[in-house]
Amino acid sequence: MRAWQVVRHGRPSHALELVEAEEPVPGPGQIVVKARASVLNYNEVDGCHGRYLTINPPLPYTLGMECVGEVVATGPGQEAWLGRQVTSSGFGAVGAHADLVLASAAMTFNIPPGLSDAEAAAFFYPFHLAHLGLHERGRLAAGETVLVHAAAGGVGSAAVQLAVAAGATVIATVGNEEKAEFARGLGAHHVINYRKRNFAEAVLEITDGRGVDVCFDGVGGEIMLQSLRCLARGGRHLVVGFASGIEAEEVPMVNGRMLCFGNFDIVGVILAYTPPEIAGKIAGASGMPVPRFNPPTTDIAQGVQDHLLSLLDAGRIRPIVGGEVPFSDLPQALEAMEQRQTMGRIVLGR
Ligand SMILES: NC(=O)c1ccc[n+]([C@@H]2O[C@H](COP(=O)([O-])OP(=O)(O)OC[C@H]3O[C@@H](n4cnc5c(N)ncnc54)[C@H](OP(=O)(O)O)[C@@H]3O)[C@@H](O)[C@H]2O)c1
Repeated sequence: MRAWQVVRHGRPSHALELVEAEEPVPGPGQIVVKARASVLNYNEVDGCHGRYLTINPPLPYTLGMECVGEVVATGPGQEAWLGRQVTSSGFGAVGAHADLVLASAAMTFNIPPGLSDAEAAAFFYPFHLAHLGLHERGRLAAGETVLVHAAAGGVGSAAVQLAVAAGATVIATVGNEEKAEFARGLGAHHVINYRKRNFAEAVLEITDGRGVDVCFDGVGGEIMLQSLRCLARGGRHLVVGFASGIEAEEVPMVNGRMLCFGNFDIVGVILAYTPPEIAGKIAGASGMPVPRFNPPTTDIAQGVQDHLLSLLDAGRIRPIVGGEVPFSDLPQALEAMEQRQTMGRIVLGR
C-alpha cells in the first residue's frame, strides 16, 4: 500500500517520501480503515520538523492523524466495526496518510449522515476539540464573550461556530483580510486582523475594558501572553495548541502572581479519547514528557458526538472544507498550511 512517511526531519517537502509500506494488522483496540480521504492537521507540520515531542515516533513513520473510509479489518472485540463507513484517528495519532490506516477504535465514529467524505473528514477533530475546549473544559455559558484565535483555521472555524451556537458573543482573530471575511461569514461578531493591530487592546475596547470570559487559543506563545491582558475575572484561557511555535510547549507560561491577580484559569484541552479502563492505567505512565496524562474517556466522546450531530442536523454548524488536494500533493499542502495560507480543513484524496 502507498504511505506518506517521514523519512528525515525538515520542511514537509524535504521530510516526506511516498513509499510502498506493509499493510497493517489490527491488534487489541485497533481497526484497519481503507481510506478514501485523510485530512491535514497543523501538528503534522511539526511532526515533519521533528519538533513535536508528544508524538515523535522513530523514523521512518507514516504521517497523518485522521482519515475517512471503510473498516476492512478489526482487532479482537472490535468486530462490530467491520464494513462501517467511519471517520477515525490513526492509532497513536499517526498513520492516516496511507491507503490502509491502522486506527484506534476508541477514536472512531460513523460518518455523520448527509456528509460527503470530504465534509466528514473536516468534521471530527475540529468540532470535537472545539467542543471539549469550550464546553467540557471552558464551561461556556450563553451570553458570555469568547475570543477565538486563528479563527479561519481548521479548529478555529469550528470553535467560532460552536461558540455562536452556544449563544456567546464571538471575537475572532485572523492573519489576513480574506480570513477576516471568512470568519465573519462563520458568524463571528467582531474580527481582528492580529497581524495589523494589537488584538488585546482591540478586545478591551470591544468589551468596554472588561475582557473576555473564554479564550480559545490554538496559537500559543506570545499570543497566549497577550491574551491574558484581555481575560476577564473568572475567565478561562484554553490551551489548545501552539501553531506559532511548538517550542512554547516547553516554556513555563504563567507564574503564580499572574494567576492570583488575574483571578482567571489556565485550562488545558486534549483530544485523545481513551476507554476508561485504559485511561486509568496510562494516567500514571512515565513514558510521556508530562507529569500526568488525563485523556477524556470514550463515554465523554459519545456525548460530544451526540451534541454535535444534533447541531449539524439543525444546520447550526457545518464542516469547513478549505480545499481538496490529490494524494500526491501532501508535502506542498502542508507547506501552505505552515505558511498560514490555508482556511478550514484541507482534505487529501486517494
Ligand atoms: N489539543 C489537542 O488535542 C489538539 C488536537 C489537534 C490540533 N490541535 C492544535 O490546534 C491548532 C489548530 O490546528 P489546525 O490543524 O486547525 O491548524 P490551522 O488553525 O488550520 O492552521 C494554523 C493557523 O495558526 C495560525 N498561526 C498563527 N501564528 C502562526 C505561525 N507563526 N505559523 C503558522 N501558523 C500560525 C494561522 O492562522 P492566522 O494566519 O489566522 O493566524 C494558521 O492558519 C494547532 O495548534 C494544533 O496543534 C490541538
